[in-house]
Amino acid sequence: MTDRDHEVVLLMGPPGAGKGTQANLLASERGLEQLSTGAMLRAHVQGGTELGKRAKIIMDSGALVSDDIIIDMVRAELDRMRPIRVLLDGFPRTTVQAEALDALLASFGAGIDSAIELVVPESELVRRLLGRAAAEGRSDDNEDTIRTRMRVYLDQTRPLLDYYAVQGKLRSVDGIGTTGEVFDRVVGALGAERA
Ligand code: AP5
Ligand code: MG
Repeated sequence: MTDRDHEVVLLMGPPGAGKGTQANLLASERGLEQLSTGAMLRAHVQGGTELGKRAKIIMDSGALVSDDIIIDMVRAELDRMRPIRVLLDGFPRTTVQAEALDALLASFGAGIDSAIELVVPESELVRRLLGRAAAEGRSDDNEDTIRTRMRVYLDQTRPLLDYYAVQGKLRSVDGIGTTGEVFDRVVGALGAERA
């Protein structure tokens, strides 16, 4: 296995930016496994596990689930992947998570190839999330929780963009437009990496 067999891409951006939507498309396009920490937590909530019960209260408040829990979940997934070919959606979200991810990947001889930031103004984010609330009823898509999720993003996750920018790994992509238009931009931003 060479280093080129591994591929690790991060999809970053605020709540409602389209991380999940783009991750779905990109995972099959590039032969990567999509790992969404939010979806994994929602599966625990759905399954009524102990972790799910604890996580639901935190997720419904808009705060972040503890780093230890999240890092353990991601470690368990990466542990079974060889080579590591993964698209991470919604992780890392704190400096502690970012540093843990680097250490974990290094232990497998892998590293982060690129971090894609989806850029969308807040008014559009709120419009999308309230639209989804009406359509799907995700329990954290209400005005109060959305406000907290936005603040938590700005305080705890947005600083990570600099962490990847200084490493030359950050690609910022305009997240406004149709899903297809945004996807083309994401693929374009990644294409420059590994032609
Ligand atoms: P998570 O599930 O990651 O939610 P989020 O970051 O708030 O983001 P969303 O999933 O709401 O948005 P998205 O960017 O994926 O956009 P999507 O494609 O869905 O996290 C939920 C909670 O779990 C957190 O608050 C936290 O408590 C916990 N958690 C998760 N990860 C954690 C971690 N690492 N550490 C600690 N805690 C963690 O699109 C949104 C909507 O917009 C959809 O309706 C979609 O159809 C629509 N849409 C998408 N693209 C477009 C477009 N181009 N134009 C118009 N509409 C669009
Ligand atoms: Mg999502």
